[in-house]
Parts: sequence; C-alpha cells; structure tokens
Amino acid sequence: MNAGDPPVLALIGGTGLYQLAGLDDISEQRMDTPWGKPSDLVVTGQLHGRRLAFLARHGNKHSIAPHQINYRANLHALKELGANRVIGINAVGGIRDDMGPRVLVVPDQIIDYTHGRITSFCDGGDVAVRHIDFSEPYSASMRNDLLDACRSAKVDVVDGGCYGATQGPRLETRAEITRMKRDGCDLVGMTGMPEAALARELDLDYACLSLVANWAAGCGDESEISLEEIFANLEQATAQIPAILEALLA
Ligand code: HPA
Repeated sequence: MNAGDPPVLALIGGTGLYQLAGLDDISEQRMDTPWGKPSDLVVTGQLHGRRLAFLARHGNKHSIAPHQINYRANLHALKELGANRVIGINAVGGIRDDMGPRVLVVPDQIIDYTHGRITSFCDGGDVAVRHIDFSEPYSASMRNDLLDACRSAKVDVVDGGCYGATQGPRLETRAEITRMKRDGCDLVGMTGMPEAALARELDLDYACLSLVANWAAGCGDESEISLEEIFANLEQATAQIPAILEALLA
C-alpha cells in the first residue's frame, strides 16, 4: 500500500464534516477537471490500512452554497483518482417519525425538487446522450456494505427512506414539508441531487449516509430550527463515522 494506489473508497463530507480524522500518509491535491474545480483540495490518505479519498462538498470553510457546488467537478475528480466507490454524507432534516435529530439513515429513494442546477455530464458536443437507469438511485452494493458496517460497529441506522432534495440554501416552509411528506419524502436535504445522478452517469458505486440535524419544518415538536441545534446534533451524529469506517474497511 503506497501513496500512489487508488483509493478504495471516497467520502464526500457535507455540513459539519470538513476533514477526516485519523488519516495517515496524507496527500492533498488541488485538482482541475474538464468540468472545473472541485469544492476543495482532495485529500487522500491511509485509514486502517486502506487508501481513502476525502472531499469537503461545501469547501473546508463551508463557503459554497448547495446550488453553487460544482457537483460534476467533485465526482469527476474522485473518479480520476481511481475511486469507484463513493459515500456522500449529507446533513438532512427529518420528516418521518423515526428520523429525528442525530439519527443516521441510508436512504434508498430520491425525489428531486432542485432547479437550475447542472444535472448531467451530457453537455452537447459529439458525445451521445446517456439516459441512465435511475429507478434505484443508489448502488445496492455500496448501501449494503454501509449498512453492514453500521451493524458490525453497533451504530444504529435506518435502512431506507426517501430523500427529498430541495434547492436551499434556505430551509423549507411548513407547507413545503407537508407537501413533501404527502409525496412520500422521509428526509429533506439540499445536496443529495444532482450528486447521485452524476455519480450514476460516471458508473460510480454511490450511496448516501444521511445525518439528521433537525426536525424538518413543522415536524417533531420544534417551533423554530436553530443553527446551534443543527451543529450540535451533527457533531453527535458525525462522531459515529470513524467506527463505521473502521468496520467498512476491515
Ligand atoms: N432542510 C433541508 N436541508 C437540511 C435541513 C432541513 O431541515 N437540515 C439539514 N439540512
């Protein structure tokens, strides 16, 4: 195992996760792709004897809003490094009763409410348009490995749920969440799309680990959602990630 080996896994860190603790033999790369620059330096390093890549989706100072993220460059950069398996870690609001603050969820479906984002690598020119099958938006094998890792690390996780992707950066109104609930959404987040679709276009094995930061608007018993609460809950949820990774890489 050396620094030139391709990463066996890449993680895209969301709100509250800007670096990965415990990485050895680190190299940081400022990458440029045909689609532009990724959100930040891509960090590769060794964890439990395996090479891992890490990228902070919003940049390490959380300066890139969900609608401004260059999702294409982020995924292309990870693929270029040789990572074929990717876990997107996303902070979300919980809609379903069993998805309250600090709960971890590996969703299995998506409804996309975002708009105005670049959603495909199909970009004109001579390249034929590819209509990917997206019936199951996440990789079954990546999801199963992630769920197995949570179980062997004794980390509670909910298997399945529908991720509703909203435009942000504002949080939703109660009426919007009521509509999303009616539509069948269990979680709401701002960055799950187009990331998952672009990952499929690149044939990456991609799954999402959702960390519930707060009850979505009008859910639970909260009247107002505070940023302090979001970050405190995310800190607790994020604290479980090292154990999950240890089990995943074992
Ligand atoms: N809505 C959308 N995205 C989020 C939320 C929310 O309530 N919490 C964390 N990310």
